[in-house]
Amino acid sequence: MIKNDMKTAIVTGAGRGMGRSIALKLSEEGATVIANDISDDSAQETADLINSRGGRCVAHTGDVSDVSFVDSMVKQSVSEYGSVNILINNAGVLRPTGITDISLSEWEFVIKGNLTTTFVCTKALIPIMAESGWGRIVNFSSTAGKNVSTIGGAHYTAAKAAILGLTRHTAKEVASLGITVNAICPGLINTEMVQTNISEEATERYAKSFPIPRLGTPNEVAELVAFLVSDNASYITGASLDINGGDLMI
Ligand SMILES: NC(=O)c1ccc[n+]([C@@H]2O[C@H](COP(=O)([O-])OP(=O)(O)OC[C@H]3O[C@@H](n4cnc5c(N)ncnc54)[C@H](O)[C@@H]3O)[C@@H](O)[C@H]2O)c1
Repeated sequence: MIKNDMKTAIVTGAGRGMGRSIALKLSEEGATVIANDISDDSAQETADLINSRGGRCVAHTGDVSDVSFVDSMVKQSVSEYGSVNILINNAGVLRPTGITDISLSEWEFVIKGNLTTTFVCTKALIPIMAESGWGRIVNFSSTAGKNVSTIGGAHYTAAKAAILGLTRHTAKEVASLGITVNAICPGLINTEMVQTNISEEATERYAKSFPIPRLGTPNEVAELVAFLVSDNASYITGASLDINGGDLMI
């Protein structure tokens, strides 16, 4: 059992996909969860699910690239639960546009939805984690951050690569405060992000090309995140961990 009891975790983008699975997993391990999502009702649905299973979860609906929204979510969480020790920067957006068709506004939307969200939440929570001398931050990069995105455009690849740099830099700056910062790099994971952007045939083709010839599941990613936020991962920081069925080996 990984001890997350007495811990409070903010999970961004927790209304569906990997974010929801992570919120459920951390709750099962005893953490109080703040489930965030920009999309109406979805964070509340995650909170209702967790609370119906005997966990403790509150929903905060809003955009985590918005500094005032994040500041108010963090302030309310600290006043209600005393602290926030875990931050999962899971929220992300993908567009499958070719480089010459990416408009400046779409470029900014994708950079903001992946990179700025991660920066804004990280900046808001480091001082809170530093107060108790213990903190865990897990950022969502992708195989796109190390290679080239399977389905996303160049803006998505650029944002996910930048998250790896942000992770290493932040990890170095905050290590002495008792805070670890790591990134995970999922391959193709079976969520709505994938289902809405590529056809079933293409998905099957990709799946067959992986050494483990299938898509990953949100629960498999949640297990890795749960390990990284546990005391068992106390000497891991600034790392990027692949979870991709062996995709990058080939
Ligand atoms: N699914 C994959 O194959 C895959 C692979 C590698 C990396 N990732 C990354 O993993 C993370 C989770 O992916 P997923 O597949 O579960 O995605 P998803 O699209 O199913 O879920 C993402 C959630 O984030 C929310 N969100 C987006 N922008 C937000 C914002 N500004 N503020 C708050 N919430 C916001 C969305 O509403 C959505 O509910 C993302 O960062 C994604 O880029 C996904």
